Amino acid sequence: TETSAESPAGFPFVVVSNRLPVDRQVHADGTLSFRTSPGGLVTALEPVMREADGAWIGWTGSADDETEPFEHDGIHLIPVTLTADDVELYYEGFSNDTLWPLYHDVIAPPAYHREWWESYVTVNQRFADRAAAVTSEGGTVWVQDYQLQLVPKMLREQRPDLTIGFFNHIPFPAYGIYSQLPWRTQIIEGLLGADVIGFQRTADAGNFTRAVRRLLGHQTKGTVIDVPVEAEAEVKSAKHRISRVRDDKLVRTVVAKAFPISIDAARYEELARRPDIQERAREIREGLGNPKVVMLGVDRLDYTKGIGHRLKAFGELLADGTVEVEDVTLVQVASPSRERVTAYQNLRDEIELTVGRINGDFGTISHTAISYLHHGYPREEMVALYLAADVMLVTALRDGMNLVAKEYVASRFDNDGVLVLSEFAGASDELRTALRVNPHDIEGLKEAILKAIAMPKAERARRMRAMRKRVQENDVARWSSSFLATLTTPSDGLALPKAN
Ligand code: F6P
Repeated sequence: TETSAESPAGFPFVVVSNRLPVDRQVHADGTLSFRTSPGGLVTALEPVMREADGAWIGWTGSADDETEPFEHDGIHLIPVTLTADDVELYYEGFSNDTLWPLYHDVIAPPAYHREWWESYVTVNQRFADRAAAVTSEGGTVWVQDYQLQLVPKMLREQRPDLTIGFFNHIPFPAYGIYSQLPWRTQIIEGLLGADVIGFQRTADAGNFTRAVRRLLGHQTKGTVIDVPVEAEAEVKSAKHRISRVRDDKLVRTVVAKAFPISIDAARYEELARRPDIQERAREIREGLGNPKVVMLGVDRLDYTKGIGHRLKAFGELLADGTVEVEDVTLVQVASPSRERVTAYQNLRDEIELTVGRINGDFGTISHTAISYLHHGYPREEMVALYLAADVMLVTALRDGMNLVAKEYVASRFDNDGVLVLSEFAGASDELRTALRVNPHDIEGLKEAILKAIAMPKAERARRMRAMRKRVQENDVARWSSSFLATLTTPSDGLALPKAN
């Protein structure tokens, strides 16, 4: 077995995700370096990684990149190479033009292509092989997200000694939708290679468990699924999970349940309390012409986010004369995403046409209705925007969690600001005192916006306090520790049969 140079016996804790938690920087002189990406996952896992001598396997984000394993900020990073073809077929194709729209309730039509599927299998095998090669005997591997759903099974086949976790960051659809997938059984079997499968919402875990019953007929009880054991090797090594005999058969117990992901809430509050960031927030408002109300949307430019619905509601309020362009401004940050996928190119055209129309119809020389920014920004600037925004609009049509909603709440240490939140975002299970909306209901959305604008200060504070408490208590460190505790604790205590 090949092992990484830094750790000849392998790593006891390994995270596998499509992307490594670093961004590649190309400098003016042509040299390259890596910078930790601002994502929440790496913040959550950094301490665990350091303590456990962990490694992270993933793609650097550039095609044909053959960077050797390296250490960054105390974490061992192990790059997996994706060729330009892999990027096109596995990443842009199967991951982002088949699974992504399918798992988000077919908001855009998923495309089913056999060559994409073949590439998905090949690339998942590459990630699994890498994990199999670098994880130490009896170690723990935590696989992340929909791009790598076959990895748990592929890994278990080679390394039955490992404890394997999987977390799905996006929704898992109802069976009536999921069953469209020509490879629906293979995906379910791939995931069932894990010991614990985490989802954002209880409803997602329920959808998955139902798909398991429908497609494979396995017995399920609550969050526990009985998976018949096939290989003798599994029985010998994964003792703590091979827990019972049913109808004379050995089964592995697999847990499928919700672990809602979160953010590093304290870090957001810390930034929000910085005087320079508060000054920047004032500057932003001033730059917008000091309107009475600043509304904000922050999204990857993705058709799941309901940006068009939000613009429609705002445009109609301006057209109605219910709100005046001098009083209310919408800042919409739409960060570039998956720009080579046609559905994303079409969305961009559509959104930019709508923004242009609304601004043309309702803007004045001194006031623009929508300040539209097609950029990504550093975390400091995002927090300044959150502080500057009286109303935060999260109108996703479907979203695994939506961390922007949680970031807004975590930043508002002043207990001010109103969150308008789609009930179709996972965050709405937790943020119960947000103004919850069905973004398809444009009238309802308009009413919620007006209610947010007019909400008395005392009510704003009451709602925000309750949400802040929730986000502070359930931060991303708690998310990862509760997942890992479930993963590494022997399941329901039933004894291994002596027969083997
Ligand atoms: O959770 C959704 C997700 O697809 C992550 O897996 C990913 O890191 C993020 O959104 C951004 O997407 P992408 O990696 O395709 O740019």
